Order: sequence, then C-alpha cells, then structure tokens
Amino acid sequence: MSDDRRKLQSTARQMLEGELLFSDPFLPAGRNPLPPPAASAAGAPAMTAEERAAALQAMDVNEVRGCTKCRLHQGRTQTVFGEGSPTAQIVFIGEAPGEEEDRTGRPFVGRAGELLTRMITAMGLKRSDVYICNVVKCRPPGNRSPAADEADACRDYLLRQLQILAPAVLVTLGNPATQKLLDTPVGITKLRGQWQKLPLLIPGLGGIDVMPTFHPAFVLRQYTADVRSKVWADLQEVMARLNLPAPPRRKGAGL
Ligand code: URA
Repeated sequence: MSDDRRKLQSTARQMLEGELLFSDPFLPAGRNPLPPPAASAAGAPAMTAEERAAALQAMDVNEVRGCTKCRLHQGRTQTVFGEGSPTAQIVFIGEAPGEEEDRTGRPFVGRAGELLTRMITAMGLKRSDVYICNVVKCRPPGNRSPAADEADACRDYLLRQLQILAPAVLVTLGNPATQKLLDTPVGITKLRGQWQKLPLLIPGLGGIDVMPTFHPAFVLRQYTADVRSKVWADLQEVMARLNLPAPPRRKGAGL
C-alpha cells in the first residue's frame, strides 16, 4: 500500500472514531483508572491526596470565595474554583465560568461542559479522575472572554492550583487558557495538537507537558467531523503519553 493511501486511511479512521466517540454518550466510563503521580513537577516529594485536597480547599474557602481583586466579583453569584481528583494526572483548563457554572459553583456544567464530559469519557476516564478549572474564577458579564487584567488578577490562584496538583499533563482548552499558560500570543489553530512545555511561570512550576486543543464551546459551534477528529487526535496524544489504553473499537466503528 502506498504511503499516501496509508495516511488517508489513518486520517479517515481517526475521523470516524472521533465522530463515533464524541456523539455517543453511553460509553462505559472509568476504563482507565489513573495511578497518582509519584512526585511533584518540581521533583519535591509528592503531597498526599489528603494534603492536596486540604490545600486546595483552603485556597478556595479562605482566598478565592471572598476575592475582590478584579471587577468580575461585582457580577458573580459565586466563584467557581475547580473540581476533580487532587491527584489527577490530567488537568483540563478552560476560560471562565458561564451562566450555569456561576449558578452551581462548578466548572464546565453547561453545554460546553457536557461535551467536555463526553471527551473525558471517550478517553476511558471519569470527570472525577481528572481535574477541571478555568483561567478566571468568576463569570465575565455576558460570557465575554476575560480581559487581560482580569486573567492577571486570577493568575496566582491558577498557578498555585497547578503547583498543588502537580499533574503530568495540562490540556488547555481554547485561546485564553493556551495563551495565558504558554505565555504566547500564538493562536490555538497553530498550537493545537502539538506538545508544549509549561514555561517556568513561578518557582517550582514549569516543564509540565501541555496539549492545547480546541475549546468545547468552539467544537459545538463548528460541529464538523474535521474539528471533532482534530480534538480526538489531541486527546489520543494525551492518552498515549500517559500510556492509557485506546478505547476498544465498537461494532461498526472500523473502516
Ligand atoms: N464553562 C467553564 O467552566 N469554562 C469554560 O471555559 C466554558 C464553560
């Protein structure tokens, strides 16, 4: 078989798999239990799960919930700190809470959140296996993107969250998360699908593998096989890096 034909077949298979997996909410979750990381990103002895959970909760309760560092506090119902496993190997980072998140206090629970949940499930994981948070902890009015000074005001919370979690991989969802964490003006269309390294943003936090991918809200707006297969390819990269087994091919999924 020619190289061109092989490439074409592999692209077609990826598109089909992405399509099937993203459109099927009934895949069994939790096929890929993740072991906790052995050590923090800085090489220091890892905190226990309990220590991480306590440190995250202390930051949430004592600092974030009462935060007035930027104008976003004026319009919020409540802050949205983040949720998931304190020993997650994968952290998904979005942009900002939307209406549902502001109402419930939980990240990614609206329509984009449903798609993110399907993406995580397609990886053979549950939401509780990973950690999910945003660049800013308060909802911007009208769901606009956070302004630069608002993201800057929240930066310390996000970086300290990541320091505590010390994950193996960050998946940045869309432009604001990708550009903020990689400290780059380069856009998501250029960066997605290519492994990056977290720069040394604060002492002890740097060098983590970063996989930028499209934001689920963008995928919902551009719900094409091409966009979905690109996101699925990015998630498969993450699975390969963490040695997570590929989800089993379901009947009719093959070419
Ligand atoms: N919900 C979130 O929590 N974050 C986003 O970026 C979008 C929706």
